[in-house]
Amino acid sequence: MNKDNLLKEAKRVLLDNFQPEGFTIPCKGLYPFQWKWDSGFIAIGLAHFDIEKAKSEIDSLLKSQWGNGFIPHIVFHNDSDTYFPGPDFHHTYLHPEASKKYKSSGITQPPVIGFVLEELYRLAEDKDDILCFIESRIDSVYKNHHYFYSHRDPFDEGLVYIYHNWESGTDNSPMWDHIWETMDPPDYDFQRKDTTHVDASQRPTKREYDHYINIIEIAKSCNYDDRLIAERSPFLVYDPLFNAMLLKSNESLIKLYGIIGDQYEKVEQLEKWQEKSKKSFNDKLFDHNLNAYIHYDIRNSKPIPLISSSSFTPLFAGIPNKEKAVKLIQTLQERFGGENSYLCASFDPTEERFNPKKYWRGPVWINLNWIIYKGLKRYSFDEMAERLKNETVELIDKEGFKEYFDPRKEVYKNQGHGGYGGNDFSWSAALIIDLLNQ
Ligand code: GLC
Repeated sequence: MNKDNLLKEAKRVLLDNFQPEGFTIPCKGLYPFQWKWDSGFIAIGLAHFDIEKAKSEIDSLLKSQWGNGFIPHIVFHNDSDTYFPGPDFHHTYLHPEASKKYKSSGITQPPVIGFVLEELYRLAEDKDDILCFIESRIDSVYKNHHYFYSHRDPFDEGLVYIYHNWESGTDNSPMWDHIWETMDPPDYDFQRKDTTHVDASQRPTKREYDHYINIIEIAKSCNYDDRLIAERSPFLVYDPLFNAMLLKSNESLIKLYGIIGDQYEKVEQLEKWQEKSKKSFNDKLFDHNLNAYIHYDIRNSKPIPLISSSSFTPLFAGIPNKEKAVKLIQTLQERFGGENSYLCASFDPTEERFNPKKYWRGPVWINLNWIIYKGLKRYSFDEMAERLKNETVELIDKEGFKEYFDPRKEVYKNQGHGGYGGNDFSWSAALIIDLLNQ
């Protein structure tokens, strides 16, 4: 397909997935509600051709914010019975400050909205209009960051925890395997819906789902109180992707408040968070043997010495110094960047547990590629950035707007296919629009 046709198709996917309630579903059937970080990426795509829809995407998410600043990972604006766990599972009314109006989950997802607002500012033609929009929404995002630093940083380190693998966005990553070994959840009786839409071999197992459900049950038993969750959740992790998105969004809020003007206290607070977080991030999450950023398992007090696409996302937030960044790129090149592989596998292809077809255990995801592309550009690794961008476009061009892609080039030979998961996946479409316009 030529560039114009790709753009046209991407736009069609986004418009098809846009809902009358004013937000975009990630994918028909498989993900029929509003997802937090999906909406952020989708808004960037929409901003290229319909800024009003981009604004509406952000607004419909922010509406669900809780009194304490928390923003949920799924908002159930609409009815659908094609997804488990659905609107009646999470019981967020247990938390006194949960939204009374919108049903949602009680877990969150990477905090992308801060930097998405900056992207909207960059893309909008009418700067006065978009600034007016940002001015009236930015405090909600600031409040969300305040929530993270006041509720999710129990050791006052400037790093915030996630308490569920679904909060990471990288649901069934091998990162969590050793945590599942510390748990023994009941064999729950539930009706999964995902495997009716997608081949089960490309999705998490039933036993993995038991663990996922078990953590939510524990959070419910804590009435979603963050302090109790921090004490009781068997899953408590510093995730480099999640924290990098928070830092990148802090940086964007500082810039945007600067443009708006007269917000010295908030800017000062953001700068304090930023400085402390950056230091802890480098001290605690950089592994000098692996030369990469890694996850830290707070519950079991140990680093998780495994590399994934999340390991490279701190580039986007300007976290490494030049020397660390060079080492990080070497790791990317050596482990993920062989000539027979598309960039960037979601898990280290040199590891035994790498699975090129299974969700977050190996396949390429377009949002991670976009984040890493931006990171490479930020540090002027232009050649690698160009390669990443071209390969991302090539995958979509070959397979369509799939959810994830096999990183092995050989599977595409002789009319073979390597696009997996959902079809017409919104962020694959949204971010291709952005990449093609870089
Ligand atoms: C999957 C992904 C998650 C995404 C959601 C909706 O659960 O792992 O990152 O937000 O789908 O697309």
